[in-house]
Amino acid sequence: MVSEQNFIPASYAFSVESGKVCWEAPSNIALVKYWGKKDNQIPANPSVSFTLSQCKTITEISFSKKEYTDDFSFDFLFEGKSKEDFKPKIEQFFKRIKKYLPFLEAYHFVINSQNTFPHSSGIASSASAMAALSLCLMSIERLFTEISEDLFYRKASFLARLGSGSACRSVKGNPVVWGAHKEFNESSDLYGVELPEIHEIFKNYQDTILLVDIGAKEVSSSIGHNLMHNHPYATRRFEQAHENLSTMLSVFQSGDLNKFIEITESEALTLHSMMMTSSPYFILMKPNTLQIINHIWEYRKRTGVPVCFTLDAGANVHVLYPESYITQVMEFIQNSLIKFCHNGQFIADQTGNGAVKKL
Ligand code: PMV
Repeated sequence: MVSEQNFIPASYAFSVESGKVCWEAPSNIALVKYWGKKDNQIPANPSVSFTLSQCKTITEISFSKKEYTDDFSFDFLFEGKSKEDFKPKIEQFFKRIKKYLPFLEAYHFVINSQNTFPHSSGIASSASAMAALSLCLMSIERLFTEISEDLFYRKASFLARLGSGSACRSVKGNPVVWGAHKEFNESSDLYGVELPEIHEIFKNYQDTILLVDIGAKEVSSSIGHNLMHNHPYATRRFEQAHENLSTMLSVFQSGDLNKFIEITESEALTLHSMMMTSSPYFILMKPNTLQIINHIWEYRKRTGVPVCFTLDAGANVHVLYPESYITQVMEFIQNSLIKFCHNGQFIADQTGNGAVKKL
């Protein structure tokens, strides 16, 4: 079994003076949701997600040797502009991961990051950002020591998890399981693992993201996760996630879309039910979120088109459907759902193959 120790490298020399690396990493959308965690970013239950392809973060790191001191030295730029308020998050991330990346205190880094999706669109960027950053750091480590392909991606996902839990599912293509599950031997609480084979119907699965509310969330994910401690329904919820993941694993083989829809929508509503039954309770859905859900149900019933929805920790709605229905569903979205979006905004995305090295 792979343990945390596997990610602590044997000592190596910092043999390179300077250089530059660049990765782009996509966002992901969970189907079976991670909500609740133990210490050290260990999930309370396993989850599975589709990796997206259009919503990405592109991160470039230039590095140069500095005197080895007991601290970190880096600049952070977002879309070319210095972003001081992001620095504490990265500083904290570096502190968490320095045990696994001994070169972090030997170099000065200039980190330059940009997103392909509008910021403050309510689309979580921490998953793609932490995945892209972790992959860049792994590419730097690879300059000092030999690392197998397997270890490279596994450790990148492991590091990304320490930055933001669900980020560990943004390294590889779709679908990715994170969290130990008895029916998927390779699965681990420490990093995400992609499923080897899936049914044709899930290739290029469409995710049209309807932007209902673009403001900052009223309750952050970290607060939400924490409220699962002592939550009256937590134990049963965590068991249910295991059961739903079992079903989802067989759905990915059989292509049974009715089951897929049933589990996906139930998971989305369960996530939000957990929020509504936390203490203190809160609601992240907006009236237009419910309007969209009801219209999707009515349309599916009337036409038989296998379109469904999922939600992340916010008011936006991810509309999911097979690629072959793109014309019909886009027409439905344009005619019936766009009016519920903030300024008519949406993002047409689909499943993708994971992060890509650019430099
Ligand atoms: O990775 P975090 O801490 O942002 O939490 C993500 C939580 C959900 O998006 C609601 C569910 C999930 O599995 O991605």
